[in-house]
Amino acid sequence: MSVLDCYALNRRRLLRTFGASAVTALSMPLASGLALAQPVFAQYPFQLGVASGDPWPDGFVIWTRLAPEPFEIGYGMPMAPVEVSWEVAADRGFKTVVAKGTAIAPPELGHSVHVEVGGLESGRDYWYRFAAGKERSLAGRARTAPAIGAAVDRVRFAVAGCQNYENGWYTAYRRLAQDAPDFVFQYGDYIYEGRGNRVWNGPNGPVENVRQHFGSEIYTLDDYRRRYAQYKMDADLQAAHAAAPWWVVWDDHETDNNWAGEIDQDNTDPKLFNLRRQAAAQAYYENMPLRAGSFPAGAAIQIYRRQAYGQLLQLNLLDTRQFRTDQPCGDKMVVCGALDRPEAEMMGARQEKWLIEGLTSSKSTWNVIAQQVMMMDLDRDPGPDVVVNPDSWAGYRTPRARILKAIRDRKVVNPVVLTGDEHQNFAGELQIDGSRPEARPIAPEFVVTSISSGGDGVDQTEQYAKIQAANPQLKFNNSQRGYAICDVTPKTWTTEFKVLDAITRRDGVLTTRKKLVVEAGDPHLAEA
Ligand SMILES: [Fe+2]
Repeated sequence: MSVLDCYALNRRRLLRTFGASAVTALSMPLASGLALAQPVFAQYPFQLGVASGDPWPDGFVIWTRLAPEPFEIGYGMPMAPVEVSWEVAADRGFKTVVAKGTAIAPPELGHSVHVEVGGLESGRDYWYRFAAGKERSLAGRARTAPAIGAAVDRVRFAVAGCQNYENGWYTAYRRLAQDAPDFVFQYGDYIYEGRGNRVWNGPNGPVENVRQHFGSEIYTLDDYRRRYAQYKMDADLQAAHAAAPWWVVWDDHETDNNWAGEIDQDNTDPKLFNLRRQAAAQAYYENMPLRAGSFPAGAAIQIYRRQAYGQLLQLNLLDTRQFRTDQPCGDKMVVCGALDRPEAEMMGARQEKWLIEGLTSSKSTWNVIAQQVMMMDLDRDPGPDVVVNPDSWAGYRTPRARILKAIRDRKVVNPVVLTGDEHQNFAGELQIDGSRPEARPIAPEFVVTSISSGGDGVDQTEQYAKIQAANPQLKFNNSQRGYAICDVTPKTWTTEFKVLDAITRRDGVLTTRKKLVVEAGDPHLAEA
């Protein structure tokens, strides 16, 4: 079949499927091969915004996804590759363009574009934007990582995640964007997979959601694409992406609540769950500013990865979902005799070896384990029983002890653990056994609250005040929404927990709830 035959066939099919609006894109000249060089869009194609991510010393990924009708099947695009031009400038006004080119947005990838821009200067800001046909995206700011081995005075970055669209506004992302951090670590739960709910069951009874997911629980690639589109249409989230490069990892809700390797929460046939994982992995890659090294193959996707920021810090990003064994005791917060099962895996043998080798060979001042679920073995029963969150590391005591002992015995320099998942803020000092603390903690852990999941919070619940009193390793707990800023220098690590008084109102007020500091060489937490 010639290119023109194919074009005519596609045109007829598109007319049937999408009507005239999509077909206008095909009525323009074709570029080489089948890529459309001058598409005409019925609606603005950059409605999902732009993003940058995975910065390295001479570049970063820039991302966008063409979607003129974001919520429709086929999202208003012709099912043909489309050319997208991009440019990177040294200034906000794009007077000095330092790199530019053309990328193809393929229909197989939901018309997403992932450009790995190289040849840039290290440790500085750049601005980027895209164009397709006669349309141009808004601009985003990215920032390269410092040169390998460079002496770096300071890195200041944000930690955020758990952004349930229904539970509240993304005011925290608007404020995070204004902070203009060097990068954002997004610890996961970028989307939630559940159906739309007008009302959810809050801690004190039914609460009305501020907005609702479209449709039912998501299973297919089209479902996941539409869910990402719904989240990415939020202007505050777009502002946070446009403000800084992101390091993203996924947690459970990008696929299914509390999934573990081949097992979902309902114990679905793994062959069936594997199909859902494939859709989720593809949609995640399509919608995140990830390098080609994270291109999915079936259900497999490379999430764990590493980047040094000069001599100052080494960022180790983990995947605690794809390779873990099932949670113990039916994944319920009950007294559980299986926490010490020897065969348990949280990261899988290969990732665990990679992490320990990276930590022990690091030349960095601070060695960050940036990951998903709580590493503290927090006892959630204030009384004599011991109850832990079985989905957290406390439900996986064997691999947890292996990692913590490796950090302690092999003298990893200034380890710091960053965590999400809990929809609360916690700061604590990691011990191999929290009930038998050693004089020197192994590392500080900062668990950062949700952007929106859980709705309006309170400073501390009565239940967690009791839990904190029963857990000396836990130094701080707060149950409001927000994000954290980590300000890192060669001498100190400061974590600032920023919280909002409400997220069900548009005008929530952000304040600093707590500022905790760790001195290099001493893993104890102190008030800043
Ligand atoms: Fe979450």
